[in-house]
Amino acid sequence: MTESGPQPPQVMQVSADALKRAASVLADGGLVAFPTETVYGLGADAGNDKAVAAIFQAKGRPSFNPLIVHVPGEAEAERLVHVDDRAQQVIELFWPGPLTLVLPRRADAPLSLLVSAGLDTVAVRAPAHPAARALLEAAGRPIAAPSANVSGHVSPTAPIHVAEEFPDGGGGLLKLILAAGRCPVGVESTVLDLTGDVPMLLRPGSVTREELERVLGPVELAGAEAGVKAPGMLTSHYAPSLPVRLNAAAPNDDEGFLAFGPDQFIRGGHERLNLSPTGDLHEAAANLFAMLRALDKPCCKGIAVMPIPEVGLGIAINDRLRRAAAPR
Ligand code: TXA
Ligand code: MG
Repeated sequence: MTESGPQPPQVMQVSADALKRAASVLADGGLVAFPTETVYGLGADAGNDKAVAAIFQAKGRPSFNPLIVHVPGEAEAERLVHVDDRAQQVIELFWPGPLTLVLPRRADAPLSLLVSAGLDTVAVRAPAHPAARALLEAAGRPIAAPSANVSGHVSPTAPIHVAEEFPDGGGGLLKLILAAGRCPVGVESTVLDLTGDVPMLLRPGSVTREELERVLGPVELAGAEAGVKAPGMLTSHYAPSLPVRLNAAAPNDDEGFLAFGPDQFIRGGHERLNLSPTGDLHEAAANLFAMLRALDKPCCKGIAVMPIPEVGLGIAINDRLRRAAAPR
């Protein structure tokens, strides 16, 4: 018999059997990667300290960076956090969906303290993806889940990305990847802090500031303080290993090229991909992380990205691109 080290995670397409297995891994304190409409999450029983600690360990995530707790809906969220009128209004409109709410933690919340990373708040979200909903139902407990990537890397939008991030299951902690193809939205959820007098947007996503302001009135955009409020919004993030150059009209000879909209440059660039030849921001968001990964290859010295309009979902796309391009 040969000694075997940590094993790669098992990959199972979503099915009744796979959901049963996933629920049992979670109940045993193991980690399960699962699809959501935004990105794949690295899930653990949110009430189990050891399981939540395993998330931080597998990702190499700083312990001061809190986690999103996933729930089926408002009723389950109310056991964890204080849901005020404002929260109720946006929940009615946007849940289930890609909107995370930061709310005051209930003193008796059945949650590991580690999910809040020392804050007196909890970020809660009800995902819309049918596989995520089925997993929440099978598990029968809130699931803490950050994006299923090594801390600082590009978020995963397909099962293969998760497998590449954790070839040995993050030291054997990630037991199972629930696979259901590509994530339809492609960028992480909007994070809205409702603990202060004025709602604050901590992370732009596909639920836009305009949509939120229609319901809530003025929503502040977290600036420099976002790094304090949402410790995960460190400047450099979502980063491929190659340097990223933004607002490029055309690639240099040694660069890969990520185009957007009609792209008439034939010369230069080893590799070129187009986020959306028709200039559709939803298509671009869904392609963003997979294409950054595809261009992050040794053939190139860097990745040049065409300008993306700073409107609607473009705001979230540009936020992720600026972080990918930020000094490391
Ligand atoms: O779309 C998503 O939100 C995905 C899927 C899996 O749900 N999850 C995700 O998690 O992107 P993560 O951990 O990669 O990003 C969560 C962000 C981080 O910036 C974190 O700092 C912030 O939310 N956050 C979590 N809890 C918070 C809290 N109590 N207060 C302020 N920010 C918080
Ligand atoms: Mg993340």
